[in-house]
Amino acid sequence: MEKYLVIGDPIGHSRSPGMQNAAFEALGMGRPYGIRHVTPGELPDFFEYARENLSGVNLTIPHKLQAVQLSDRLSGCAKRCGSVNTLIIKDGIITGDSTDGYGLENALIHCFGRSLAGKRILFCGAGGAARATAVHLADCGCSEVSFINRTVSKAEELSAMCQRCSDGIVSECAEPGDEKKCIELLERADYLIQATSVGLKESDPSALPEKYFRPGMNLCIFDTIYRRTALQELADALGIPCANGKEMLVQQGAKSFELWTGVKPDLEVMRRGFDEGVTN
Ligand code: ATR
Repeated sequence: MEKYLVIGDPIGHSRSPGMQNAAFEALGMGRPYGIRHVTPGELPDFFEYARENLSGVNLTIPHKLQAVQLSDRLSGCAKRCGSVNTLIIKDGIITGDSTDGYGLENALIHCFGRSLAGKRILFCGAGGAARATAVHLADCGCSEVSFINRTVSKAEELSAMCQRCSDGIVSECAEPGDEKKCIELLERADYLIQATSVGLKESDPSALPEKYFRPGMNLCIFDTIYRRTALQELADALGIPCANGKEMLVQQGAKSFELWTGVKPDLEVMRRGFDEGVTN
């Protein structure tokens, strides 16, 4: 019987089962990780099911905020960012944790090979993906965590959270149409994190316009979306280093696996599981 699940609404696209089951199999634990479609209205009942029947859960869109309220306990990280993507279930107690920030931090280090200490981070987006990760980056010694977002009030909320969590950190906000401010933020950033949902559909434009970038600018772009997007094509054309969201998914999944089993999984095994896209 499945002891671990990934849940979301929608959920059909998830690569987590292939990735996690590859790591479980490598430890001789079979393939205990499944996938289930759970709507927001079903989430409270799902928690009661999980309490009795499961050892661990990954949650994705749109459950990460509601899970903060439903968990019996929260890790320090989940409390600080107000987001839960991992449930650890032991003796009927459900602990909510968040491994997204760890996943992004380690994906940046893996993809671009530099530590984050003193680096300037610029998020494009201030929705769930930015909320789950920005505070963690502020915590890891970055000197700036700023936000470009269509709804400026959401950017300001995340900016205030980063400033509360890290004394003296620089955090500014801009809306995507403010060309002068956006270019100023992009010119001084070390990393641009694309954390909007723009790019999920094949027909989507680049999350930021081409005129905001210049060839060879000193910037690394990390797009949290793992399909090829217009922004990734633009970065390639301009010679700007760019990575997609695969490594973040692998790294956050590896941290969840470690929280459940106490074992650090083989990342190469998980990357291969991700690529194979096996779903059960
Ligand atoms: P959630 O907030 O639940 O993660 P979302 O509504 O898909 O999910 O939004 C994620 C991010 O993508 C947000 O930063 C959102 O901008 P707003 O805060 O202004 O809503 C951004 N986003 C979604 N669609 C967008 C679009 N067409 N243009 C620009 N930004 C967009």
